[in-house]
Amino acid sequence: MRGFVTVVDSGAFSAVDFRATGARGVASKRVHRAMNRIRFRKAQVTMAQTVMKRGPVSGTAIERTARKRKPFLIDLYGTAVGKKYVMAITGIGLLGFVLFHMIGNLKMYMGQSDLNHYAHFLEKLLYPILPEKAMLWILRGGLLTMAVLHIHAAYSLTVLNKQARPVKYQSERDYQVASFASRTMRYTGIIVLLFLIWHLLDLTFGAGAVNEYVGTKDSEGLKDVYGAVAFSLERVPVAVFYILANIALGTHLFHGVWSLFQSLGWNNPRFNKWRRAVATSFATIIVVGNVSFPIAVLAGVVG
Ligand code: HEM
Repeated sequence: MRGFVTVVDSGAFSAVDFRATGARGVASKRVHRAMNRIRFRKAQVTMAQTVMKRGPVSGTAIERTARKRKPFLIDLYGTAVGKKYVMAITGIGLLGFVLFHMIGNLKMYMGQSDLNHYAHFLEKLLYPILPEKAMLWILRGGLLTMAVLHIHAAYSLTVLNKQARPVKYQSERDYQVASFASRTMRYTGIIVLLFLIWHLLDLTFGAGAVNEYVGTKDSEGLKDVYGAVAFSLERVPVAVFYILANIALGTHLFHGVWSLFQSLGWNNPRFNKWRRAVATSFATIIVVGNVSFPIAVLAGVVG
């Protein structure tokens, strides 16, 4: 007697001829072998198709295999997280500079000789181990590198954000979540940058007509930094610009300190009270210190 068993194997049909010999075991073994053959053939076909037809799943898949690996840090900087790290780490360096610069400038309240000696000390850092001013230039190089990286990371994060949301928010954004300081980071950053350009032309280079006093020596033969600051800040518009720029700097620093904890992953809600306190205190100390200088010059306390 002849019979047919239909083998259904994940959607594929196949008829297997078997002879009913009476022995059910033999029939079921044949069915089993037939199923295995079908599976084997299907696997062969699938493999052949895979080899022949399979193209790249996406553009990135091709690039991954073809692209040469970049050094780890460059690769990391290519990601949004990497850029945030760079912003946070360079931000810490810049915060350190701003703090020490303000503390150093407090020497102004001790008089002309003290401030000028302090400036002279900075020029002679590590002298005679290193040539005169060499350490100062190394520090300047580090500072410039940090500033450039900080600005570049900020700019490319903004570009990434825009790419992620090419269509503007249709409704009003939730400004309760984003504070005034966080919304104005870009603008306060640009104001600080413009201030810095003016400030360097004014007190470091004394370029052109910006500050003709720069380079004058005091009675001890030292560069008269004290006199240059007084000369600069006695001009009311310049003093007002210094005050406004330092308020912008304070706003920038407040949000900068607050968000660097976030960027570095230290954002446990338990610490939020401390984060706010650290950010507020730091920004306040810098603003009060720096704003006091133009006010002191205008008030005649310095100069
Ligand atoms: C009212 C506040 C400030 C005063 C009185 C002041 C004063 C000075 C003086 C006198 C110098 C020249 C030092 C020298 O030639 O030895 C200087 C340099 C400099 N200041 Fe300020 N500064 C103030 C705020 C700031 C702020 C807020 C920043 C940064 C955001 C800043 C960044 C710099 C930089 C980068 C230099 C050049 C340092 C160098 O390369 O020698 N200053 N400042």
